[in-house]
Amino acid sequence: MSNIWMKKPMEAYEADIKKSELKRVLGKWSLTAIGIGAIIGGGIFVLTGTGAYYNAGPALALSFVIAGIACVFAALCYAEFASILPVEGSAYAYAYGTVGEIFAWIIGWGLILEYAMGSMTVAVSWSGYFAKMLKMVGLHLPYWMTTDPGTANKAFGEASRQIAAGNLSLEKLQTFQETISNFNAAPELFNMKLFLNLPALCIVLFVISILIRGTKGAAKANNFIVVLKVSAIIFVIIAGIFFINVDNWMPFIPAATTITENGVSHPAYGISGVVAGASAIFFAYVGFDAVSTQAGEAINPKKDVPFAIITSLIVCTVLYILVSLVLTGMMHYTDFNPLGKYPDAIKAPVAYAFDIAGQAWAGYIITIAATIGLISVLMVMIMGQSRIFLGMSKDGLIPKTFSKVNPTTGVPKKNLMILGAIIAVVASLTPINELAHMTSFGTLFAFTMVCVAVWVLRVKQPKLERSFKVPALPVIACLGIVINIYLIFNLSKEAQMYSIAWLILGFIIYFVYSKRNSKLQNGGYGETFTAEQQPLEEFDIDIDNKK
Ligand code: ALA
Repeated sequence: MSNIWMKKPMEAYEADIKKSELKRVLGKWSLTAIGIGAIIGGGIFVLTGTGAYYNAGPALALSFVIAGIACVFAALCYAEFASILPVEGSAYAYAYGTVGEIFAWIIGWGLILEYAMGSMTVAVSWSGYFAKMLKMVGLHLPYWMTTDPGTANKAFGEASRQIAAGNLSLEKLQTFQETISNFNAAPELFNMKLFLNLPALCIVLFVISILIRGTKGAAKANNFIVVLKVSAIIFVIIAGIFFINVDNWMPFIPAATTITENGVSHPAYGISGVVAGASAIFFAYVGFDAVSTQAGEAINPKKDVPFAIITSLIVCTVLYILVSLVLTGMMHYTDFNPLGKYPDAIKAPVAYAFDIAGQAWAGYIITIAATIGLISVLMVMIMGQSRIFLGMSKDGLIPKTFSKVNPTTGVPKKNLMILGAIIAVVASLTPINELAHMTSFGTLFAFTMVCVAVWVLRVKQPKLERSFKVPALPVIACLGIVINIYLIFNLSKEAQMYSIAWLILGFIIYFVYSKRNSKLQNGGYGETFTAEQQPLEEFDIDIDNKK
Protein backbone atom coordinates (compact mmCIF):
# COMPACT_ATOMS: atom_id res chain seq x y z
CA MET A 1 0.00 0.00 0.00
CA SER A 2 1.39 3.41 -0.86
CA ASN A 3 2.20 5.64 2.04
CA ILE A 4 3.86 9.04 1.86
CA TRP A 5 5.69 8.39 5.16
CA MET A 6 7.47 5.28 3.89
CA LYS A 7 11.18 5.15 4.59
CA LYS A 8 13.88 3.87 2.31
CA PRO A 9 15.32 0.72 3.87
CA MET A 10 18.99 0.81 4.78
CA GLU A 11 19.62 -2.31 2.69
CA ALA A 12 18.55 -0.23 -0.30
CA TYR A 13 21.25 2.35 0.50
CA GLU A 14 23.75 -0.46 0.83
CA ALA A 15 22.70 -1.86 -2.54
CA ASP A 16 22.85 1.63 -4.11
CA ILE A 17 26.41 2.06 -2.89
CA LYS A 18 27.50 -1.33 -4.18
CA LYS A 19 25.95 -0.62 -7.58
CA SER A 20 27.15 2.99 -7.76
CA GLU A 21 29.21 3.87 -10.83
CA LEU A 22 30.52 7.08 -9.30
CA LYS A 23 34.29 7.00 -8.78
CA ARG A 24 35.60 7.36 -5.23
CA VAL A 25 38.38 9.87 -5.85
CA LEU A 26 37.92 12.56 -3.18
CA GLY A 27 40.22 12.60 -0.16
CA LYS A 28 39.89 14.58 3.08
CA TRP A 29 41.51 17.78 1.79
CA SER A 30 39.77 17.79 -1.58
CA LEU A 31 36.48 17.49 0.28
CA THR A 32 37.48 20.36 2.59
CA ALA A 33 38.41 22.43 -0.47
CA ILE A 34 34.98 21.66 -1.95
CA GLY A 35 33.41 23.12 1.22
CA ILE A 36 35.58 26.25 1.12
CA GLY A 37 35.12 26.46 -2.64
CA ALA A 38 31.36 26.67 -2.19
CA ILE A 39 31.37 29.00 0.83
CA ILE A 40 33.73 31.82 -0.11
CA GLY A 41 32.21 33.71 -3.01
CA GLY A 42 30.67 37.09 -3.66
CA GLY A 43 28.85 37.17 -0.30
CA ILE A 44 31.80 38.27 1.81
CA PHE A 45 32.84 40.96 -0.69
CA VAL A 46 29.33 42.37 -1.18
CA LEU A 47 27.05 41.81 1.83
CA THR A 48 29.38 43.18 4.49
CA GLY A 49 28.52 46.83 3.69
CA THR A 50 24.78 46.13 3.89
CA GLY A 51 25.16 44.26 7.18
CA ALA A 52 27.29 47.02 8.70
CA TYR A 53 25.19 49.98 7.59
CA TYR A 54 21.63 48.65 7.93
CA ASN A 55 22.00 46.20 10.81
CA ALA A 56 24.98 45.81 13.06
CA GLY A 57 27.50 48.66 12.71
CA PRO A 58 31.02 47.60 13.81
CA ALA A 59 29.42 44.61 15.57
CA LEU A 60 29.05 43.03 12.11
CA ALA A 61 31.76 40.62 13.28
CA LEU A 62 29.28 39.41 15.94
CA SER A 63 26.66 38.88 13.20
CA PHE A 64 29.19 36.63 11.47
CA VAL A 65 29.72 34.79 14.76
CA ILE A 66 25.95 34.22 15.15
CA ALA A 67 25.46 33.06 11.55
CA GLY A 68 28.57 30.90 11.92
CA ILE A 69 27.17 29.29 15.10
CA ALA A 70 23.83 28.64 13.37
CA CYS A 71 25.74 26.90 10.61
CA VAL A 72 27.88 24.92 13.07
CA PHE A 73 24.73 23.42 14.67
CA ALA A 74 23.51 22.34 11.25
CA ALA A 75 27.03 21.24 10.22
CA LEU A 76 27.29 18.93 13.24
CA CYS A 77 23.96 17.33 12.30
CA TYR A 78 25.06 16.94 8.66
CA ALA A 79 28.31 15.40 9.91
CA GLU A 80 26.50 12.76 11.99
CA PHE A 81 24.36 11.79 9.01
CA ALA A 82 27.34 11.72 6.68
CA SER A 83 29.04 9.33 9.10
CA ILE A 84 26.07 6.94 8.79
CA LEU A 85 25.00 7.28 5.15
CA PRO A 86 27.92 7.74 2.75
CA VAL A 87 25.66 8.41 -0.25
CA GLU A 88 25.11 11.26 -2.67
CA GLY A 89 21.95 13.30 -2.15
CA SER A 90 22.77 15.14 1.08
CA ALA A 91 19.79 16.10 3.27
CA TYR A 92 17.40 14.47 0.79
CA ALA A 93 19.00 11.06 1.25
CA TYR A 94 19.21 11.48 5.05
CA ALA A 95 15.51 12.31 5.31
CA TYR A 96 14.46 9.41 3.05
CA GLY A 97 15.89 6.82 5.40
CA THR A 98 14.63 8.47 8.58
CA VAL A 99 11.58 10.71 8.39
CA GLY A 100 9.95 9.40 5.23
CA GLU A 101 9.45 9.95 1.51
CA ILE A 102 7.29 13.07 1.59
CA PHE A 103 9.82 14.86 3.80
CA ALA A 104 12.70 13.68 1.63
CA TRP A 105 10.95 14.89 -1.49
CA ILE A 106 10.20 18.35 -0.14
CA ILE A 107 13.77 18.70 1.18
CA GLY A 108 15.13 17.66 -2.21
CA TRP A 109 12.78 20.14 -3.84
CA GLY A 110 13.95 22.85 -1.40
CA LEU A 111 17.58 21.98 -2.15
CA ILE A 112 16.96 22.93 -5.78
CA LEU A 113 16.49 26.46 -4.45
CA GLU A 114 19.84 26.27 -2.71
CA TYR A 115 21.87 24.70 -5.49
CA ALA A 116 20.17 25.42 -8.83
CA MET A 117 18.84 28.85 -7.90
CA GLY A 118 22.13 29.56 -6.11
CA SER A 119 24.06 28.63 -9.27
CA MET A 120 21.99 31.02 -11.36
CA THR A 121 22.54 33.84 -8.86
CA VAL A 122 26.27 33.14 -8.74
CA ALA A 123 26.50 33.05 -12.56
CA VAL A 124 24.85 36.48 -12.72
CA SER A 125 27.15 37.89 -9.99
CA TRP A 126 30.13 36.44 -11.84
CA SER A 127 29.04 38.29 -14.96
CA GLY A 128 29.01 41.56 -12.96
CA TYR A 129 32.52 40.95 -11.62
CA PHE A 130 33.78 39.89 -15.04
CA ALA A 131 32.47 43.09 -16.65
CA LYS A 132 34.16 45.08 -13.86
CA MET A 133 37.43 43.24 -14.43
CA LEU A 134 37.31 44.00 -18.14
CA LYS A 135 36.61 47.66 -17.36
CA MET A 136 39.83 47.74 -15.34
CA VAL A 137 41.74 47.04 -18.55
CA GLY A 138 39.65 49.48 -20.58
CA LEU A 139 37.26 46.98 -22.20
CA HIS A 140 33.51 47.64 -22.07
CA LEU A 141 30.97 44.97 -22.87
CA PRO A 142 27.85 46.36 -24.58
CA TYR A 143 24.78 46.70 -22.39
CA TRP A 144 22.70 44.25 -24.49
CA MET A 145 25.31 41.56 -23.91
CA THR A 146 25.32 41.81 -20.11
CA THR A 147 21.65 42.43 -19.32
CA ASP A 148 18.67 40.09 -19.31
CA PRO A 149 15.56 41.19 -21.27
CA GLY A 150 13.39 41.69 -18.16
CA THR A 151 15.87 44.07 -16.53
CA ALA A 152 16.50 45.93 -19.80
CA ASN A 153 12.79 46.48 -20.50
CA LYS A 154 12.11 47.56 -16.93
CA ALA A 155 15.00 50.04 -16.96
CA PHE A 156 13.89 51.40 -20.35
CA GLY A 157 10.29 51.88 -19.14
CA GLU A 158 11.42 53.60 -15.96
CA ALA A 159 13.85 55.90 -17.81
CA SER A 160 11.19 56.86 -20.37
CA ARG A 161 8.67 57.60 -17.58
CA GLN A 162 11.13 59.70 -15.61
CA ILE A 163 12.19 61.73 -18.65
CA ALA A 164 8.55 62.31 -19.66
CA ALA A 165 7.73 63.46 -16.10
CA GLY A 166 10.60 66.00 -16.30
CA ASN A 167 12.00 67.86 -13.30
CA LEU A 168 15.23 65.85 -13.18
CA SER A 169 18.69 66.93 -12.09
CA LEU A 170 21.21 67.06 -14.95
CA GLU A 171 23.01 63.99 -13.58
CA LYS A 172 19.81 61.91 -13.40
CA LEU A 173 18.71 63.07 -16.85
CA GLN A 174 22.04 61.93 -18.32
CA THR A 175 21.79 58.54 -16.58
CA PHE A 176 18.28 57.94 -17.92
CA GLN A 177 19.26 59.11 -21.41
CA GLU A 178 22.17 56.68 -21.33
CA THR A 179 19.78 53.84 -20.39
CA ILE A 180 17.57 54.72 -23.36
CA SER A 181 20.45 54.89 -25.82
CA ASN A 182 21.83 51.58 -24.48
CA PHE A 183 18.42 50.04 -25.04
CA ASN A 184 18.16 51.43 -28.57
CA ALA A 185 21.67 50.23 -29.44
CA ALA A 186 20.69 46.57 -28.90
CA PRO A 187 20.57 44.49 -32.11
CA GLU A 188 17.25 43.07 -33.27
CA LEU A 189 16.31 39.44 -33.71
CA PHE A 190 12.92 38.53 -35.21
CA ASN A 191 11.84 42.17 -34.80
CA MET A 192 12.66 42.10 -31.12
CA LYS A 193 15.50 43.78 -29.24
CA LEU A 194 18.07 41.18 -28.23
CA PHE A 195 19.25 41.18 -24.63
CA LEU A 196 21.05 38.41 -22.79
CA ASN A 197 23.61 38.00 -20.06
CA LEU A 198 26.24 36.40 -22.26
CA PRO A 199 29.04 36.13 -19.64
CA ALA A 200 26.62 34.30 -17.29
CA LEU A 201 25.72 31.87 -20.07
CA CYS A 202 29.37 31.28 -21.03
CA ILE A 203 30.62 30.70 -17.49
CA VAL A 204 27.96 28.04 -16.84
CA LEU A 205 28.88 26.25 -20.07
CA PHE A 206 32.59 26.50 -19.18
CA VAL A 207 31.98 25.00 -15.72
CA ILE A 208 29.88 22.19 -17.21
CA SER A 209 32.68 21.41 -19.66
CA ILE A 210 35.02 20.86 -16.67
CA LEU A 211 32.50 18.88 -14.61
CA ILE A 212 31.61 16.37 -17.33
CA ARG A 213 35.24 15.31 -17.65
CA GLY A 214 35.25 13.76 -14.20
CA THR A 215 35.36 14.62 -10.53
CA LYS A 216 39.13 14.27 -10.15
CA GLY A 217 39.89 17.04 -12.64
CA ALA A 218 37.11 19.25 -11.27
CA ALA A 219 38.47 18.80 -7.73
CA LYS A 220 41.96 19.80 -8.90
CA ALA A 221 40.61 22.97 -10.52
CA ASN A 222 38.66 23.69 -7.34
CA ASN A 223 41.75 23.18 -5.14
CA PHE A 224 43.65 25.71 -7.23
CA ILE A 225 40.89 28.33 -7.05
CA VAL A 226 40.46 27.79 -3.31
CA VAL A 227 44.16 28.49 -2.67
CA LEU A 228 43.84 31.64 -4.74
CA LYS A 229 40.76 33.00 -3.01
CA VAL A 230 41.85 32.15 0.51
CA SER A 231 45.14 33.96 -0.26
CA ALA A 232 43.12 36.98 -1.45
CA ILE A 233 41.09 37.01 1.79
CA ILE A 234 44.25 36.74 3.89
CA PHE A 235 45.71 39.56 1.82
CA VAL A 236 42.64 41.74 2.56
CA ILE A 237 43.04 41.05 6.28
CA ILE A 238 46.78 41.71 6.45
CA ALA A 239 46.80 44.74 4.11
CA GLY A 240 43.67 46.16 5.76
CA ILE A 241 45.14 46.06 9.27
CA PHE A 242 47.44 48.97 8.31
CA PHE A 243 44.45 51.20 7.55
CA ILE A 244 42.34 50.50 10.62
CA ASN A 245 41.24 53.49 12.65
CA VAL A 246 40.13 52.08 16.02
CA ASP A 247 37.77 55.04 16.52
CA ASN A 248 35.61 53.50 13.76
CA TRP A 249 34.86 50.60 16.15
CA MET A 250 33.44 52.91 18.85
CA PRO A 251 30.77 52.23 20.00
CA PHE A 252 31.13 48.61 18.94
CA ILE A 253 27.37 48.00 19.20
CA PRO A 254 25.69 51.31 18.29
CA ALA A 255 22.48 52.15 20.18
CA ALA A 256 19.31 50.79 18.56
CA THR A 257 17.64 53.30 16.25
CA THR A 258 15.70 53.42 12.98
CA ILE A 259 17.04 54.25 9.53
CA THR A 260 14.56 56.01 7.26
CA GLU A 261 15.08 55.72 3.53
CA ASN A 262 12.62 56.81 0.81
CA GLY A 263 9.96 57.24 3.50
CA VAL A 264 10.38 53.70 4.87
CA SER A 265 11.85 53.14 8.34
CA HIS A 266 13.90 50.08 9.33
CA PRO A 267 15.02 49.20 12.85
CA ALA A 268 18.83 49.11 13.05
CA TYR A 269 21.70 48.44 15.46
CA GLY A 270 21.55 47.36 19.09
CA ILE A 271 21.47 43.64 19.91
CA SER A 272 18.49 43.04 17.59
CA GLY A 273 20.41 44.71 14.77
CA VAL A 274 23.32 42.33 15.34
CA VAL A 275 20.95 39.35 15.06
CA ALA A 276 19.23 40.79 11.95
CA GLY A 277 22.74 41.27 10.51
CA ALA A 278 23.25 37.51 10.78
CA SER A 279 20.31 36.97 8.38
CA ALA A 280 21.56 39.69 6.06
CA ILE A 281 24.97 38.08 5.61
CA PHE A 282 23.81 34.44 5.80
CA PHE A 283 24.28 33.97 2.05
CA ALA A 284 28.04 34.27 2.60
CA TYR A 285 27.90 30.93 4.49
CA VAL A 286 25.74 29.08 1.99
CA GLY A 287 27.56 26.09 0.54
CA PHE A 288 29.36 24.11 3.27
CA ASP A 289 26.70 21.40 3.09
CA ALA A 290 27.72 20.81 -0.54
CA VAL A 291 30.40 18.51 0.86
CA SER A 292 27.65 16.07 1.84
CA THR A 293 26.40 15.88 -1.75
CA GLN A 294 29.79 14.44 -2.73
CA ALA A 295 29.80 11.59 -0.20
CA GLY A 296 29.23 9.10 -3.04
CA GLU A 297 32.63 10.09 -4.45
CA ALA A 298 34.59 10.23 -1.18
CA ILE A 299 37.31 7.63 -0.57
CA ASN A 300 36.56 7.41 3.14
CA PRO A 301 33.17 9.15 3.45
CA LYS A 302 32.24 8.17 6.99
CA LYS A 303 35.29 9.95 8.43
CA ASP A 304 36.29 12.49 5.81
CA VAL A 305 32.91 14.04 5.01
CA PRO A 306 32.21 15.04 8.67
CA PHE A 307 35.79 16.34 8.92
CA ALA A 308 35.50 18.39 5.72
CA ILE A 309 32.10 19.89 6.61
CA ILE A 310 33.28 21.10 10.01
CA THR A 311 36.79 22.17 8.97
CA SER A 312 35.65 24.19 5.94
CA LEU A 313 33.03 25.94 8.04
CA ILE A 314 35.46 26.81 10.85
CA VAL A 315 38.13 28.12 8.43
CA CYS A 316 35.59 30.35 6.65
CA THR A 317 34.00 31.61 9.88
CA VAL A 318 37.40 32.74 11.20
CA LEU A 319 38.26 34.46 7.90
CA TYR A 320 34.84 36.15 7.73
CA ILE A 321 35.07 37.49 11.28
CA LEU A 322 38.52 38.94 10.58
CA VAL A 323 37.43 40.52 7.25
CA SER A 324 34.41 42.17 8.88
CA LEU A 325 36.55 43.54 11.72
CA VAL A 326 39.09 44.94 9.27
CA LEU A 327 36.37 46.44 7.05
CA THR A 328 34.51 48.23 9.84
CA GLY A 329 37.87 49.40 11.18
CA MET A 330 38.88 50.84 7.80
CA MET A 331 35.59 52.62 7.10
CA HIS A 332 33.06 54.06 9.51
CA TYR A 333 29.86 51.99 9.19
CA THR A 334 27.79 55.11 8.41
CA ASP A 335 29.97 55.70 5.33
CA PHE A 336 28.24 52.73 3.67
CA ASN A 337 25.05 54.82 3.49
CA PRO A 338 23.92 54.59 -0.17
CA LEU A 339 22.50 58.12 0.15
CA GLY A 340 25.64 59.47 1.83
CA LYS A 341 28.99 60.74 0.61
CA TYR A 342 30.08 57.36 -0.87
CA PRO A 343 26.89 56.14 -2.58
CA ASP A 344 28.64 53.21 -4.31
CA ALA A 345 30.49 51.90 -1.25
CA ILE A 346 27.70 49.51 -0.27
CA LYS A 347 27.87 47.70 -3.64
CA ALA A 348 31.52 46.65 -3.31
CA PRO A 349 32.41 47.52 0.31
CA VAL A 350 35.73 45.70 0.62
CA ALA A 351 37.21 47.03 -2.63
CA TYR A 352 35.80 50.48 -1.83
CA ALA A 353 37.40 50.60 1.60
CA PHE A 354 40.80 50.15 -0.05
CA ASP A 355 39.95 52.80 -2.68
CA ILE A 356 39.18 55.31 0.06
CA ALA A 357 42.42 54.41 1.79
CA GLY A 358 44.16 55.41 -1.47
CA GLN A 359 44.98 51.79 -2.38
CA ALA A 360 42.93 51.30 -5.54
CA TRP A 361 45.29 48.49 -6.66
CA ALA A 362 44.07 46.39 -3.73
CA GLY A 363 40.52 46.86 -5.04
CA TYR A 364 41.70 45.42 -8.37
CA ILE A 365 43.16 42.37 -6.66
CA ILE A 366 39.87 41.83 -4.81
CA THR A 367 37.87 42.10 -8.04
CA ILE A 368 40.12 39.55 -9.77
CA ALA A 369 39.99 37.19 -6.77
CA ALA A 370 36.20 37.42 -6.55
CA THR A 371 35.84 36.80 -10.30
CA ILE A 372 37.99 33.68 -10.17
CA GLY A 373 36.65 32.63 -6.75
CA LEU A 374 33.05 32.63 -7.92
CA ILE A 375 33.89 30.01 -10.55
CA SER A 376 34.50 27.43 -7.85
CA VAL A 377 31.25 28.35 -6.05
CA LEU A 378 29.45 27.74 -9.32
CA MET A 379 31.32 24.51 -9.91
CA VAL A 380 30.50 23.05 -6.50
CA MET A 381 26.88 24.17 -6.61
CA ILE A 382 26.19 22.63 -10.01
CA MET A 383 28.06 19.48 -8.97
CA GLY A 384 25.96 19.34 -5.77
CA GLN A 385 22.68 19.80 -7.64
CA SER A 386 23.55 17.06 -10.13
CA ARG A 387 24.29 14.59 -7.30
CA ILE A 388 21.01 15.42 -5.54
CA PHE A 389 19.17 14.83 -8.82
CA LEU A 390 21.12 11.59 -9.23
CA GLY A 391 19.88 10.35 -5.84
CA MET A 392 16.28 11.46 -6.47
CA SER A 393 16.27 9.93 -9.93
CA LYS A 394 17.62 6.56 -8.73
CA ASP A 395 14.70 6.55 -6.29
CA GLY A 396 12.28 7.23 -9.16
CA LEU A 397 11.08 10.60 -7.82
CA ILE A 398 12.35 12.45 -10.89
CA PRO A 399 12.86 11.08 -14.44
CA LYS A 400 15.41 8.31 -15.01
CA THR A 401 17.51 10.45 -17.40
CA PHE A 402 19.15 12.02 -14.35
CA SER A 403 20.46 8.71 -12.99
CA LYS A 404 22.73 7.64 -15.84
CA VAL A 405 26.41 7.71 -14.92
CA ASN A 406 28.93 7.79 -17.74
CA PRO A 407 31.11 4.67 -17.32
CA THR A 408 34.28 6.38 -18.59
CA THR A 409 34.20 9.59 -16.59
CA GLY A 410 32.23 8.25 -13.62
CA VAL A 411 30.00 11.33 -13.50
CA PRO A 412 26.30 11.82 -14.41
CA LYS A 413 27.10 13.49 -17.73
CA LYS A 414 23.61 13.76 -19.18
CA ASN A 415 22.28 15.04 -15.85
CA LEU A 416 25.00 17.72 -15.79
CA MET A 417 24.34 18.75 -19.36
CA ILE A 418 20.57 19.14 -18.91
CA LEU A 419 21.09 20.98 -15.64
CA GLY A 420 23.77 23.21 -17.18
CA ALA A 421 21.52 24.10 -20.11
CA ILE A 422 18.67 25.08 -17.77
CA ILE A 423 20.92 27.10 -15.46
CA ALA A 424 22.65 28.85 -18.38
CA VAL A 425 19.40 29.82 -20.11
CA VAL A 426 17.63 31.02 -16.97
CA ALA A 427 20.68 32.95 -15.71
CA SER A 428 21.16 34.69 -19.04
CA LEU A 429 17.54 35.55 -19.74
CA THR A 430 15.77 36.25 -16.44
CA PRO A 431 16.19 38.90 -13.71
CA ILE A 432 17.35 36.22 -11.27
CA ASN A 433 18.90 38.69 -8.80
CA GLU A 434 15.48 39.49 -7.39
CA LEU A 435 15.06 35.86 -6.39
CA ALA A 436 18.50 35.42 -4.82
CA HIS A 437 17.10 35.37 -1.29
CA MET A 438 15.36 32.11 -2.15
CA THR A 439 18.78 30.45 -2.04
CA SER A 440 19.03 31.24 1.67
CA PHE A 441 15.47 29.99 2.21
CA GLY A 442 16.25 26.64 0.56
CA THR A 443 19.43 26.28 2.60
CA LEU A 444 17.87 27.19 5.95
CA PHE A 445 14.93 24.90 5.24
CA ALA A 446 17.29 21.97 4.57
CA PHE A 447 19.36 22.80 7.70
CA THR A 448 16.22 22.78 9.84
CA MET A 449 15.09 19.44 8.45
CA VAL A 450 18.51 17.85 8.96
CA CYS A 451 18.48 18.97 12.63
CA VAL A 452 15.01 17.38 13.01
CA ALA A 453 16.03 14.19 11.20
CA VAL A 454 19.23 13.62 13.19
CA TRP A 455 17.27 13.87 16.41
CA VAL A 456 14.52 11.52 15.14
CA LEU A 457 17.12 8.95 14.11
CA ARG A 458 18.91 9.18 17.47
CA VAL A 459 15.63 8.51 19.32
CA LYS A 460 14.50 5.70 16.99
CA GLN A 461 17.85 4.04 16.38
CA PRO A 462 20.04 4.86 19.39
CA LYS A 463 22.34 1.86 18.87
CA LEU A 464 23.12 2.55 15.24
CA GLU A 465 26.87 2.81 14.64
CA ARG A 466 27.95 6.42 14.10
CA SER A 467 31.58 7.38 13.52
CA PHE A 468 30.64 10.97 14.35
CA LYS A 469 28.04 11.95 16.95
CA VAL A 470 26.51 15.39 17.53
CA PRO A 471 27.41 16.30 21.11
CA ALA A 472 24.68 17.31 23.58
CA LEU A 473 21.76 16.15 21.47
CA PRO A 474 18.88 17.21 21.52
CA VAL A 475 20.13 20.63 22.73
CA ILE A 476 22.27 21.26 19.63
CA ALA A 477 19.54 20.09 17.24
CA CYS A 478 16.92 22.25 19.03
CA LEU A 479 19.18 25.31 18.93
CA GLY A 480 19.83 24.63 15.24
CA ILE A 481 16.10 24.38 14.54
CA VAL A 482 15.26 27.57 16.47
CA ILE A 483 18.06 29.68 14.92
CA ASN A 484 17.42 28.47 11.39
CA ILE A 485 13.67 29.14 11.63
CA TYR A 486 14.39 32.55 13.11
CA LEU A 487 16.70 33.36 10.19
CA ILE A 488 14.01 32.20 7.72
CA PHE A 489 11.56 34.67 9.29
CA ASN A 490 14.14 37.43 8.84
CA LEU A 491 14.41 36.90 5.07
CA SER A 492 12.55 39.34 2.84
CA LYS A 493 8.78 38.83 2.60
CA GLU A 494 9.07 38.33 -1.19
CA ALA A 495 11.64 35.57 -0.72
CA GLN A 496 9.38 33.86 1.83
CA MET A 497 6.36 34.14 -0.45
CA TYR A 498 8.12 32.87 -3.60
CA SER A 499 9.78 30.05 -1.67
CA ILE A 500 6.49 28.89 -0.16
CA ALA A 501 4.94 28.98 -3.65
CA TRP A 502 7.90 26.84 -4.80
CA LEU A 503 7.27 24.31 -2.02
CA ILE A 504 3.55 24.15 -2.88
CA LEU A 505 4.49 23.45 -6.50
CA GLY A 506 6.77 20.70 -5.15
CA PHE A 507 3.86 19.03 -3.30
CA ILE A 508 1.74 19.11 -6.48
CA ILE A 509 4.53 17.48 -8.52
CA TYR A 510 5.02 14.86 -5.79
CA PHE A 511 1.39 13.74 -5.89
CA VAL A 512 1.06 13.97 -9.68
CA TYR A 513 4.39 12.33 -10.68
CA SER A 514 6.86 11.34 -8.00
CA LYS A 515 4.66 9.26 -5.72
CA ARG A 516 3.39 7.25 -8.70
CA ASN A 517 6.89 6.60 -10.01
CA SER A 518 8.62 6.11 -6.69
CA LYS A 519 10.70 2.94 -6.61
CA LEU A 520 9.95 2.58 -2.92
CA GLN A 521 6.17 2.92 -3.36
CA ASN A 522 6.24 0.39 -6.20
CA GLY A 523 8.09 -2.24 -4.20
CA GLY A 524 11.34 -1.67 -6.11
CA TYR A 525 13.35 -1.85 -2.90
CA GLY A 526 11.84 -5.20 -1.96
CA GLU A 527 10.16 -5.43 1.40
CA THR A 528 9.76 -1.95 2.85
CA PHE A 529 10.08 -1.01 6.46
CA THR A 530 8.91 1.75 8.68
CA ALA A 531 11.65 3.38 10.76
CA GLU A 532 10.57 1.36 13.80
CA GLN A 533 10.96 -1.93 12.00
CA GLN A 534 14.10 -1.10 10.13
CA PRO A 535 17.03 -3.26 11.26
CA LEU A 536 19.42 -0.31 11.33
CA GLU A 537 21.69 -1.66 14.03
CA GLU A 538 22.89 -4.26 11.58
CA PHE A 539 23.57 -1.65 8.97
CA ASP A 540 27.21 -1.36 8.03
CA ILE A 541 28.14 -0.20 4.59
CA ASP A 542 31.33 -1.44 2.99
CA ILE A 543 32.88 1.06 0.69
CA ASP A 544 34.35 -0.52 -2.36
CA ASN A 545 36.94 2.01 -3.51
CA LYS A 546 36.59 2.71 -7.20
CA LYS A 547 39.11 5.13 -8.60
N1 ALA B 1 28.53 31.52 -0.02
C1 ALA B 1 28.58 31.73 -1.41
C2 ALA B 1 28.84 33.15 -1.76
O1 ALA B 1 29.02 33.93 -0.86
C3 ALA B 1 27.32 31.24 -2.05
O2 ALA B 1 28.89 33.49 -2.92
